[in-house]
Amino acid sequence: MSESVDNRVQELHDLLNQYNYEYHVLDKPSVPDAEYDQLLNELKQIEAEHPELATSDSPTQRVGGAVLEQFSKVTHRTSMLSLGNAFNEEDLKDFDRKVREVAGDGAMYSCELKIDGLAVSLRYEDGLFVQGATRGDGSVGEDITANLKTIRSIPLRLKKPLSIEVRGEAFMPKSSFLKLNEERERKEEALFANPRNAAAGSLRQLDPRIAASRNLDIFLYAIGDPGDTGVRSQSEGMKLLDEMGLKTNPERRMCKSIDEVMNYIHEWTEKRADLSYDIDGIVIKVDSLDHQEELGFTAKSPRWAIAYKFPAEEVVTVLHDIELSIGRTGVVTPTALLEPVRVAGTTVQRASLHNEDLIREKDIRIGDHVVIKKAGDIIPEVVSVITEKRTGEEKEFNMPTHCPACDSELERLEGEVALRCLNPKCPAQLQEGLTHFVSRNAMNIDGLGEKVIAQLYQSELIRDVADLYTLTREQLIGLDRMGEKSADNLLKAIEASKENSMEKLLFGLGIRHVGAKAARTIAEHFHSFDALKEATAEELCQIDEIGNKMADAIVTYFENEEVLELIEELRENGVNLAYTGPVKKKAEEIDSAFSGKTIVLTGKLAQLTRGDAKEKIELLGGKVTGSVSKKTDLLIAGEDAGSKLTKAQDLNIPVWDEDRLVEEIRKQEV
Ligand code: IVH
Repeated sequence: MSESVDNRVQELHDLLNQYNYEYHVLDKPSVPDAEYDQLLNELKQIEAEHPELATSDSPTQRVGGAVLEQFSKVTHRTSMLSLGNAFNEEDLKDFDRKVREVAGDGAMYSCELKIDGLAVSLRYEDGLFVQGATRGDGSVGEDITANLKTIRSIPLRLKKPLSIEVRGEAFMPKSSFLKLNEERERKEEALFANPRNAAAGSLRQLDPRIAASRNLDIFLYAIGDPGDTGVRSQSEGMKLLDEMGLKTNPERRMCKSIDEVMNYIHEWTEKRADLSYDIDGIVIKVDSLDHQEELGFTAKSPRWAIAYKFPAEEVVTVLHDIELSIGRTGVVTPTALLEPVRVAGTTVQRASLHNEDLIREKDIRIGDHVVIKKAGDIIPEVVSVITEKRTGEEKEFNMPTHCPACDSELERLEGEVALRCLNPKCPAQLQEGLTHFVSRNAMNIDGLGEKVIAQLYQSELIRDVADLYTLTREQLIGLDRMGEKSADNLLKAIEASKENSMEKLLFGLGIRHVGAKAARTIAEHFHSFDALKEATAEELCQIDEIGNKMADAIVTYFENEEVLELIEELRENGVNLAYTGPVKKKAEEIDSAFSGKTIVLTGKLAQLTRGDAKEKIELLGGKVTGSVSKKTDLLIAGEDAGSKLTKAQDLNIPVWDEDRLVEEIRKQEV
């Protein structure tokens, strides 16, 4: 092939990438669309004649690829956490106080708009976009690379050959959302409730051509493991993203104090309606990475950032009736059936009333006009009753004495507000239990919604969770609205769940008081169901985070013969009953050079990432902090270490280089 074709292809890549960047990232097109299309057609033609020139980062490759069977799972290299919420000034002051206690008065905040879309991660290797994933449960998401490639503001190649994972929010601009819904209305297709659902629905399509037609966009707001890039603050990180050609939100602002943060919030509360995309709050991040490292994380979210949520919109509607539902632990929950009404972007027709006491407290009656809002902008809630609108026709509601599903007598346990059905064989409870078992933090089986479970249960194909593992293709295909493909996908998902580490099953069984995090702690400690079922309440209480109530609930649970039979059945059906996650030893049990020591990492590491180094040191009993002080026992200095090294030398703190660190880690691995 002639050199000139090669050169022309390179030239076309450069021009098209440049025009694409100007149009979709900078929002400043420099050439008419027709010119772009002409160049793209020229490139398509050359690639048709010389297929070997169609590289994966070619501007023609945005809508390529076949329709997928299902998305594969992606394990995030560092967890994708979510943020704690603030709903008012007091919450923010509280956050600020805690930040300043650790990071001091000098800490600065980087304030950003909270884009209302869905969190995604993009991985680049040597500058090439190689994988894009959803957040999923924070540790495992879905591979949606082909769909993300269709977003034109995502560069297929970075401006520098960096290997980096970046995170951001994919969203649908308001105008695209309106256009899409108009089109769907014309075609008599179901409408999307809001731009966020439309964006999520588009990225969840197995055929990338659908995502390509949906005009999605993205703002990147974080680097997966910023320590690896040499950046030392959120603002430097955002600058690096800009330099790489990635799209960031330009409305961010540095603030020195919480008062400045409040001003930013007030400004955007006013201006949010004028934006071309939806935002649902403001994200406030401590800027310096040193400060972030010092502040660290709680189980769910960083202590160095918070999401301020805009106040919920309130609307008035009529409460037509109160329905009862039975949860997996037998709790009977009254639910308000409402005249459908639009609030915060979706139509609401049900709202939980929680329990009888709340109905009495708010004096809610059937037929009332009620004020409703969405708590945290998600969960519909009855705020109050407009008593002035009463006609006298409204009816007081009384809870029944018997379970609406199995007719057993309902009981109010001591100290509880809830009424419970205590029949362990109550069909409503069993179905809820199954729904919980397959949910994301439990066994994570996709494709088993409530309706499928209800059918499986009613047709007696499953009575308990162990029966899920005996389902056959024929049985599934026999269900309503279950095609061959969905049945195969479901069977694959069920099969894959057999390999889950023990904590997922433990949480999925739905033992009272045992949440996902406690299940993990217990699994890390006992390593197997066989060991756990022999544990006494005293042994359980010795574990940090496990209190008396939970310990008693666990012991009582495993005293039940039916439970033991169920576990045996699961074992026979091939379900893993052992812990297969990383093993964490207690600091005092570890014999390493890091045990019990406070260690600071600085400078660039070449052989492992900062995140990995931190994780390994912690596994070996050390504690990694962000800044050097008298309490520091050891400094690990990579290339180009700066002020921390000088400070450590001044304080006579031992300093290791990276080789020494790697050597110690290796020694422990043998
Ligand atoms: S930072 C560990 N910045 O809001 C920090 N999040 O719960 C990770 N979001 O899951 C989040 N805009 O999906 C961050 N400028 C922004 C954001 C943002 C939207 C979403 C994101 C996250 C959720 C917070």
